[in-house]
Amino acid sequence: MSAPTAARPMSGRVALVTGAGRARGIGAACGLRLAQLGATVVISDLARHREDLSVLGIGLGASMSGLEQVALDIRRQTGSDCEALALDVTSTDECRTVVDAVIARFGRLDVLVNNAGTAAGVSPFETTDEAAWDLAWQVNVQGASRLSRLALPHLSVNGNGAIVNVASTAGLVGIAGFGAYNVTKHAVVGLTRLLAAELGPRGVRVNAVAPGFIHTDMGAAELDQLAEEASASVEATTRDVLQQIPLRRLGTGNDVAEVVGWLASEARYVTGVIIPVDGGSGR
Ligand code: NAI
Repeated sequence: MSAPTAARPMSGRVALVTGAGRARGIGAACGLRLAQLGATVVISDLARHREDLSVLGIGLGASMSGLEQVALDIRRQTGSDCEALALDVTSTDECRTVVDAVIARFGRLDVLVNNAGTAAGVSPFETTDEAAWDLAWQVNVQGASRLSRLALPHLSVNGNGAIVNVASTAGLVGIAGFGAYNVTKHAVVGLTRLLAAELGPRGVRVNAVAPGFIHTDMGAAELDQLAEEASASVEATTRDVLQQIPLRRLGTGNDVAEVVGWLASEARYVTGVIIPVDGGSGR
C-alpha cells in the first residue's frame, strides 16, 4: 500500500462496505469512490438470493458473481485493490468472520460503510406485519450496530477511524406509508449520534448520509410501487416525484458516494452529522 497523496488521500487505508453487490446500487458506488480515493476496499453483500424475503417485488441479496463483477470493475477503473466477500449483516458469525478476514488479509480496517439495507416494512403502519418489522430492524439497525461493534477494536487502532452509515431522508421526517423502514432509518440516525459521542475520544468519527430519491434497484421498485398506488404510469409518477426535487433529477449512487467518500476521508473534524443527499427535496 502506498502513502496518501492529494489525489488519493485514502492510500494505505482499508475500507469495508456492506450491501455493495448490485451494479447500480449505492454500495457499489461507495466502493468505487473509496477506491478512487486510494483505499483498499472490501465490498460485501448477502451473496445468496432470498426470494422468500422479497420486498417491493425484488428479492433480497445479490449473487456472488454479481458481487465479484463489481469488485473486478472497481479494480479495473481505479487500480486499487478490491475484494469481494459474502456477508449477511443479520449474522453475528458472518460479521465476525468478515472482519477477521479483512484483518488477516490486509492487517487493518480503517473505514466501515454500513450501507446494507432493506425496504422491508415500507407499508402503512396498520398493515405492517411483525415479520417486516423484525427484518427491517435486523438489517437496517442491528446490521450496522453489530458490525460497528465488531469492527471497533480495529477502527480505533490508528486514531483515524471512520464509520459512515447510510440512513435515509426517511430517517429525518415521518413519511406516511413508510412504516418500519421510516422508523428503522430514524434509529440509524440515532445510532450515528450515539456512536459519534462514544467513539470520538477513541479517534473514530461516525457520520451518516441521508439519501433522498436515488435511482437504484430499490429506488426503481419504490417508483413502481408509487405508480401502482396512484394507478398511474411510472413515467407520470416520476414526473410528479421530480416536481418535489428542486434539482429536478433523481439521485445516483455516485451522488451519494461522493459525500460518503468525503466523510470517510477528508472530513477530519466532522462527527455526528447526518448529511441529506436529496437534491433539496427534504424527504
Ligand atoms: P439496493 O437494494 O440496490 O441495495 C441494498 C443492498 O443491501 C442490496 O445489495 C442487498 O442485497 C443488501 N442487503 C439486504 N439485506 C442484507 C443483509 N442481510 N446483509 C447484507 N446485505 C444485505 O438499494 P440501494 O438503493 O443501493 O440502497 C442502499 C442503502 O441506501 C440502503 O440502506 C437503503 O435503505 C438506502 N437508501 C436508498 C434510497 C434510494 O432511494 N434508493 C433512499 C434512501 C436510503
